[in-house]
Parts: sequence; structure tokens; C-alpha cells
Amino acid sequence: MFTTFSNVAPDPTLACAKEGAKLMAGFKPDVIIAVGGGSAMDAAKIMWVLYEHPEVDFQDMAMRFMDIRKRVYTFPKMGEKAYFVCVPTSAGTGSEVTPFAVITDETTGTKYPLADYALMPNMAIVDADMQMMAPPGLTSASGIDAVSHALEAYASVMATDYTDSLAIRALQVIFKYLPECYDAAVAKTANPVAREKMANAATMAGMAFANAFLGVMHSMAHKLGAFHHIPHGIANALMMEEVLRFNADPVPRKMGTFSQYAYPHALERYLEIADALGIGGKSKGEKFNNLVAAIRELQKRIGIKPTIRDYVPDEQDFLARLDDMVEQAFDDQCTGANPRYPLMSEIKQMYLNAYYGKHTVV
Ligand SMILES: [Fe+2]
Repeated sequence: MFTTFSNVAPDPTLACAKEGAKLMAGFKPDVIIAVGGGSAMDAAKIMWVLYEHPEVDFQDMAMRFMDIRKRVYTFPKMGEKAYFVCVPTSAGTGSEVTPFAVITDETTGTKYPLADYALMPNMAIVDADMQMMAPPGLTSASGIDAVSHALEAYASVMATDYTDSLAIRALQVIFKYLPECYDAAVAKTANPVAREKMANAATMAGMAFANAFLGVMHSMAHKLGAFHHIPHGIANALMMEEVLRFNADPVPRKMGTFSQYAYPHALERYLEIADALGIGGKSKGEKFNNLVAAIRELQKRIGIKPTIRDYVPDEQDFLARLDDMVEQAFDDQCTGANPRYPLMSEIKQMYLNAYYGKHTVV
């Protein structure tokens, strides 16, 4: 016997997950298959948790950590009742291969970002047919999210040779095929080659950040999305240039936690990405600026506007809630893996620069 549950909205709520888990408790499935984008897969992960462990406390599970493998809180054991399968219908979030899920308590507005390897799906079915007719907005927002995953995983303090190779290859593929996917989406035609390449690249970027984690781009995008209802991928796109410039600043800074290298080296890491993408330049600075320009060009090419202001025209509202957004971004779990540890004042400046499109040039 099987049952389908489709009542999942973007930014899935605890109420939605509870509803799904209640349904599961009724007919006791031994396989749960999540078909959808990041929101559907995240909601299904939480339903899986609630189905296996109805007694869990989300505040406990969402407790932040320094090292995911040495946590004070022991995540409940998963997979005793059901096998969990993910089938992504957009190329970007990577949720099908990551141990992360974000759920919102609709009564308080609190977002619980959960992270534990217990949340890893048992199987991911990455099939471009499921993504073939994704509309332009979804194609560009999810595609640029995958770019942000690869960029952050590559510069992360937790990056390894394993995650580097996945991140670099993902970026090479995305730069080549995302524009083609976008064109196909606009023309409402199928492009099986480009869609399959993007499907693979998004999952590879997911595998990279599942192990190397992310950085302050995601911390800031999470809050920008929560405060101003900007799609997750777009929110990352809006912070991308600013965070790259912040991390690449060659002046020695306080490094992030547990860095696997002796000195800050984000600029060198970004230059390696530029090399892999065939982006040149006469000096380090020029090559880095060319990389940033190429990213800006890619975003423009797939219909993403350049500044936060383009998406949040109410300047007074943006400024009025900026300090809350800054504090929450600083406190986000993703901040810890960033190669350069930001001050709250620096996060605020990055938001302002990204709002007005006045980027701090290194
Ligand atoms: Fe993301």
C-alpha cells in the first residue's frame, strides 16, 4: 500500500511535517520517497524524523556545534522504521545527498536548521527527466544555488581533496550548461544533454558541501530569505560577489574554526577556481576580478538581477530590520566553516553593499 502527500509549501513548516508524519503513523510505510525540490525533500526528512522518533525536541536537534562528528547532542538513530529515498525535481539544492534540512516553526517563525549525518537519505535517484521542463525561474534560482554550494565548499575550512574535486567539476559543468538549461526553460523545450549535466553538477556540489559545509554566503542568504521572502538560490546570488570579495581580502584575518591549513588562503582558492574555469588575468587581483565578473555575467545571463534592492525595493523596511538580520546571520550554523571569521559589523556592511550594489573592491 502507498499514500502520497503533497501539501508542502516553500519554506516547509513544522505543521506540514507533523501532518505528513501523522499520515505515516497511520499506515506505517517502510519506504519514504521524497519527490520535489529542496523544500519537499527537507520536509520529507523532517517527516521521516518525526515518524521514527515522535518524541524528539527540535530545539535539542537544532543545537549548534563546532564539529558535526563530536556533538554534545546525540541525534536519534534513523532508518529503523523506513528507508528514505530522494528524487530531486530541480538541479540545485543537493538536498538528496546532504545531511541538512531546514524547517520553520510557523507559530514562532523560528527556523530550525538541522544537520546530522543521520539525516542523509539512503538513496538519491538523480534523473534529468524529472527536471527537464523546470521553468526559467526555478532553473536559474536552483542552478545558482549549486554555484554557491561549490564556491563555499571549495573555500570552506573543512574542504578536502575529495570535496575539492567535486566542487571544481560542478563549477566547470554549471558554467557551461546552466545558460543552455535556462534558454531551454525560456523556450519551453527539452534539452536532455544540458539538463543531465546540470542534474549531475548540482548533486556533485551537494556531495561537496555535505562534507565540507558552507560559509557566510549561506548564513546571510538564509536570513535574507527568511526576512524578505527571496528564493534561496537568488538570495545566495545576491550575496555572492560581496562574500567572495570579503573572503579574498589578503590582509591577515581571524580564520574560521578548525581550518585545515596554516594561513588564510581564500584568495588562492578562488584563483584555483578561476584557473579551472579558464579565466585568466595578468595579476592575482586581476584574475580574481575576472572571476567575479564571470559570475556576475552568468547571473545576468540567467535573468538574476544584481542587487538586493531589485528584490526588496522598500529601503526603509530593509534598513529597519537589518540589525536583526545581521545578528541572526552571524549566529547561523554556516558561519563557522567560512574561511574568514566575520564580525557583525562586517556582515552588516556586506548586506549594505549588496543592497546598493556598491561592492568593496579588493
Ligand atoms: Fe543552498
